[in-house]
Amino acid sequence: MPKIFMKPDAANVTNPQHFRPWAKVASPSANLTQTSWDLKQREHIQALNEKYWLDKGHTPIPKEIFLNHSKIWLEIGAGTGGFFLELAKNNPDAHLLAIERCKIRSGRMIQKFSKSGLQNIQGFRGNAIPALITGVPSESIERIYILYPCPWPKNAHRKNRWYLHTVMSHLVRILKPGGLLIWASDQEFYIREAAFVSESKYQLQTLFNGQITPNLYNDLERFPNGRTSFENKFLSSGQPCFELISQRQ
Ligand SMILES: C[S@@+](CC[C@H](N)C(=O)[O-])C[C@H]1O[C@@H](n2cnc3c(N)ncnc32)[C@H](O)[C@@H]1O
Repeated sequence: MPKIFMKPDAANVTNPQHFRPWAKVASPSANLTQTSWDLKQREHIQALNEKYWLDKGHTPIPKEIFLNHSKIWLEIGAGTGGFFLELAKNNPDAHLLAIERCKIRSGRMIQKFSKSGLQNIQGFRGNAIPALITGVPSESIERIYILYPCPWPKNAHRKNRWYLHTVMSHLVRILKPGGLLIWASDQEFYIREAAFVSESKYQLQTLFNGQITPNLYNDLERFPNGRTSFENKFLSSGQPCFELISQRQ
C-alpha cells in the first residue's frame, strides 16, 4: 500500500484506502474550527477577490436566458454533460445550463447537447466563477448542482473549495428562495464542511447530508451506475459517496 501522509487531526476524516492518488493529504479542517476561522478572514477580502475575477474577463452567459425562462437548473463543472442531458430529457419544463472549463470535456458536452436536438439544454465552455459573479441575476436559478468537484484536500489550498471561495455568496444570491444547492463528493470532509458553511454563514437549510442514497431530489434511481462519470467510477470501485442538499429560505 502506498504511504499516506496525514496530519493527526485529519486521521478520522476519510478512509485512506479511498484517496485519489494525487490527494495524499486529508483536510486538517475536519474539526470545523479552522473553517469558522476561514469564514471570518474571508469577509475582509471578498470585494478584492471579486474585483480580481471581474478584471480577468470571461464569456458571459446571455442575459436573455434569464428573461425567457423561469425554471432554470445549473450544473457547474459538468464534465461531458451526460447527467444534465438525461435530466433535460426527463424534465422538459426546466431549462438546463451546464458550465465546464476544460476544453476537451466542454467540447464533447456541447457536441452531445446539439446532437440531442433538445431545446431545453445549453452548454458553455468557460470558468464558472466570473460568469456567476457578474452574469447571473439574483434569485434566477431553481437548482445548482456541483457534483464531484476537486476537493482541494491540502490545507494550504483550502480557499479553492467552492464553499470557502468568493463565489459561494453568489451561488446563494442567484438561487431562488426555496431553490436547491446540490453537492456530491467522494470526500466526506468536503460535504461536512460544505454543510457547516452553508448553514452557519449562508443560513441555508440542510435537507439531506450523508452517504448518497436515492431521495426526492437526486434522481439516483434513474442512474443505477451513477449520474456522472466520476460518480460511476467511485461507486463501481466500492468508494462511498456523500451528498449535501441545501435549500435557500
Ligand atoms: C472532478 S471533475 C467532475 C466532473 C463531473 N461533474 C463528474 O462528476 O463526472 C470536476 C470538473 O469541474 C470542472 N471545473 C473545475 N473548476 C471549474 C470552474 N471554475 N468552472 C467550470 N468548470 C470547472 C473541471 O474542469 C472538471 O471537469
